[in-house]
Amino acid sequence: MARFIDELKRTHNAAALRASDEGKEVVLFGWVASYRDHGGCVFVDLRDREGITQLVFDPNQQGHGDAPKVAYEAAQAVRSEWVIGIRGVVVSRGQNKNPRLATGEIEVHVVELTIFNKAETPPFEILDQIDTGEEKRLQYRFLDLRRAPLQHTLRVRHRINQITRRYFDDNGFLELETPYMVKYTPGGARNFLVPSRLNAGKFFALAESPQLFKQLFMVAGFDRYFQIVKCFRDEDLRLDRQPEFTQIDVEMSFVNQDDVFRTMEGLVFGIWKEVLGIDLKEKYPSGRFPQMPFEESMNNYGNDKPDMRFGMPHTDITTLVIEQNGGGVSFWKDIADKFTSGKYRRDLPTEIVKALRIPAELVAKTSRTELDKLEDFVKGMGSKGLARAKVDATGAWVQSPLAKTITDDLRLAINAAAGAKDGDILLFQFGKESTVQTVMANLRVHLAKKFGLIPESGHGGKFEFLWVVNPPLFEYDDEKKTWVAAHHAFTRPHDECVAMLDTDPGKVLCYRYDLVLNGFEIGGGSIRLHDPEVQAKVFRALGIQDEEARTKFGFLLDALKFGAPPHGGIAIGMDRLAMLLSGAESLRDVIPFPKTQRGTDLMTDAPNKVSPEQLLELKVKSIEVEASRLRSDGDAK
Ligand code: AMO
Repeated sequence: MARFIDELKRTHNAAALRASDEGKEVVLFGWVASYRDHGGCVFVDLRDREGITQLVFDPNQQGHGDAPKVAYEAAQAVRSEWVIGIRGVVVSRGQNKNPRLATGEIEVHVVELTIFNKAETPPFEILDQIDTGEEKRLQYRFLDLRRAPLQHTLRVRHRINQITRRYFDDNGFLELETPYMVKYTPGGARNFLVPSRLNAGKFFALAESPQLFKQLFMVAGFDRYFQIVKCFRDEDLRLDRQPEFTQIDVEMSFVNQDDVFRTMEGLVFGIWKEVLGIDLKEKYPSGRFPQMPFEESMNNYGNDKPDMRFGMPHTDITTLVIEQNGGGVSFWKDIADKFTSGKYRRDLPTEIVKALRIPAELVAKTSRTELDKLEDFVKGMGSKGLARAKVDATGAWVQSPLAKTITDDLRLAINAAAGAKDGDILLFQFGKESTVQTVMANLRVHLAKKFGLIPESGHGGKFEFLWVVNPPLFEYDDEKKTWVAAHHAFTRPHDECVAMLDTDPGKVLCYRYDLVLNGFEIGGGSIRLHDPEVQAKVFRALGIQDEEARTKFGFLLDALKFGAPPHGGIAIGMDRLAMLLSGAESLRDVIPFPKTQRGTDLMTDAPNKVSPEQLLELKVKSIEVEASRLRSDGDAK
């Protein structure tokens, strides 16, 4: 029987001991975080998931016979990341306290040591702050995860999971599972495909979300569902996107939009309180998050996920420019002409003109060269340039290419619309609506970071939540020249808009909503279309024929015919929530085993090639295998 583990059981974790434990005999297990040999004593910082305790190996320790000397000699061989167990006595550090450690008042004088395992020298040090490249850290993720910041983050995730489960259980929700391997349906995110060995030539898709299944739970009468669920999307990756991510997924029957909001607000308030100790009631006394119509968000901020930690809204001056026939600016006249000649319709996405005002006090913090650099920033996003004007005390524009030709009327109207005063700078974008919106949205955030209104990353102690509501049901597809569903085809239009489905689809608003935190979309959902009549009208407006509808959504259409209750729901991006709450820079910092920007796992080296035999069994032909065979055939000839 082994002395440690079998006989000597762990008495404390490495963060537990205090001055009040002085004199106790303790058994600790963990990793060697650091090792120092000082004047005849060996000092080891012992680490486990809870913290660090200083161990002292003193060969002259009295009262334990030869044991401390044996332990000291063995300790001389110990190195970083070895796994050890010790028995020892808690001793006060007197004046030599280490205020940075929870256990800094004490040290443990070791009587007995066991070495459970040696470790090779790790490729990087296991410290809180390291500058090792991310690739190396991901390759050795199991070592990276030993570091305190990641240990902390994963605990935060654990807490979020527990709070979520408790909250929904307390509120009458059932945690029900849905399949990962599902039918492939076109539209939505791009799916990962899984070949079916038993059904040669056929594929499953990995579920991009449990959407259709959670609606079926409502049809089945489960009333309130939630799930903490993995979702899979084969998308281009960004800092806030992973191919495999987790949603807190919710669906409810007999509810309106406000009921869904209240439910989710309760959850978020609970998470902030328990995880961060922050009472969001101080900021939101009604217990409710503010709401902003989609249109206002687009007009003022250029997207549907505005960061509300700072101001600097955009001013849409398209109407002014059209009314004043370009106001002497030739590019703007071109745009105005297209409207007046009827080439553009104001209700279709076309070209727009927007201004962004930098207030004088921020202008003072920057230089002309810095402002010139903004030009490169916008060009990187497909813009042709960034016109600007400095406003003087009389409202005149200086240092501006527009100053010479712009009419007084338009200039003053723009100043008034943007609230521009002496010393302010106006930045302009004009052209295709989608480009202008993206460029201006990113420019606003870029400037806020530059001026220190928000930190480069992290929350900076501010949490600004917002519901973005009432978006259009359809968006115009410029290439196909037709209306397409802006989200999914089962979102319920506002009742008062139903009449416009046939006549003016662009104006139909719907019960779709996003929850935004500090400029990130952390959740989204909708009230669903449960009424077959309206649903048929929506499909007609989308140009979806009956047959197409059947192939795409057959089972849902069937289900809706058999007594579907009014229902709606939402999914919160749990990884994004954890990232924003913990102030992390990227989703990779809050997911235990994330994928790289290129969608690979550097630790396990996935995805990898499989053998031709495996492919044969799946009846899948790899173009790459085929190509290499063709190449080798060619070589043989
Ligand atoms: P949606 O597609 O808006 O809605 O997704 C909900 C939330 O999931 C998060 N999210 C992601 N997080 C990390 N990586 C990704 N690739 C990724 N994609 C999405 C976002 C987003 O707000 N079924 C609907 C929900 C519903 O209507 O009930 C859905 O999936 O935070």
